Amino acid sequence: MIQRDVLEKLVSAGTFAPSIDNCQPWFFRLGSDSIHVILDEVRSDFFGDYGHAGSYVTIGAVIENILTAAVHYGLVPSVSYFPSEKDSPAAVIKLKAGQPSSSPLYPFIRERCTNRKPYSRKPLPENVMKSLSATPRPQGAVLHLIDDRPVMKEIARLAASVDRTSFEHKLLHQGLFKWIRWNEAEAARRDGMPVGTLELNIMNRAAFKVMSSWPVMDFLNKFALSYAVGKINSQLLLKASAIGFIVMDKSRPVDLIEGGRFFERVWLEAASLGLSLQPFGGMSFLLTRLLQARESGYTKAQKKRLLSVYDGLKRIFPLEEKNGLIMLFRIGYGGRPSTRTSRRPLTDVLLQG
Ligand SMILES: Cc1cc2nc3c(=O)[nH]c(=O)nc-3n(C[C@H](O)[C@H](O)[C@H](O)COP(=O)(O)O)c2cc1C
Repeated sequence: MIQRDVLEKLVSAGTFAPSIDNCQPWFFRLGSDSIHVILDEVRSDFFGDYGHAGSYVTIGAVIENILTAAVHYGLVPSVSYFPSEKDSPAAVIKLKAGQPSSSPLYPFIRERCTNRKPYSRKPLPENVMKSLSATPRPQGAVLHLIDDRPVMKEIARLAASVDRTSFEHKLLHQGLFKWIRWNEAEAARRDGMPVGTLELNIMNRAAFKVMSSWPVMDFLNKFALSYAVGKINSQLLLKASAIGFIVMDKSRPVDLIEGGRFFERVWLEAASLGLSLQPFGGMSFLLTRLLQARESGYTKAQKKRLLSVYDGLKRIFPLEEKNGLIMLFRIGYGGRPSTRTSRRPLTDVLLQG
């Protein structure tokens, strides 16, 4: 039997995980010595999250935080994925009392955050590259770290095509703007992204507000607005020391969860080294929809564009269609972000009974 307040502390650590647009697609159920981690399929219902792939990556990050916190509290955790139990949990974490032991990444669970500011372009020191590369990984996982500027430029060019698609597809547009919190009253819901976290200057914030209307965006796209936005956003990939890409051998939900655990471990390690990080999830999950969905929901032109992005990626990384594309991200020295996201209280995410 584990004390209830300790279990709640572990769940709280879990909720500090990153999620798509801070949608927080999770529920938890506590047992006497276990935590059930359950995917909230309503919150993770995005066109851009085919088969909940990105949300499984999120669930992996939640699990990694809980395990890291469990060790900090002197517990010995073990995880089983998709056991057939009530509520169809994605994972059940069993906990046993053990010896107090050190959990060096624990303090960074709450420190970790997305930083969308431009970062310095100075290369990562060799020891930092080594530490990141040495992050313990699950079987079948690869972390590519690219600091060669021409290759980074090519990745940014590919990302521009993905971002362009995000701003010219009605459902992708809806999926994003639904989670933007424009003022304090909206931010009080404690989910989604306060507009300040996007690090836009006054002009760009005003333009972004205009873009939040789909009819306006759709009209302005006739004058290449989505093309321009994609280009500007993807240039951020170059305002960094390096670009990372995590790939799993396979793309079953369990691989996506394991990949998400690894991604969170890399991010916590990065935070412990004083590094900033920003995910570029569109690259993984728009391509996942393209490769896996029978009816992708893209127009012919979008399909052609995304296929050419995938071909371009294959020229840089050794990819096969069976692979799980976990996350593309930029990493570097970016200082502190201007604003942070919040999390919903435990009362909203703990299932009773
Ligand atoms: C699967 C996934 C995809 C994401 N994609 C993006 C992205 O494309 N661009 C971006 O700026 N942030 C992206 N993020 C970061 C989330 O927006 C961020 O985690 C969330 O708003 C919570 O904020 P925090 O990371 O500061 O705690 C992604 C996160 C996850 C887990």
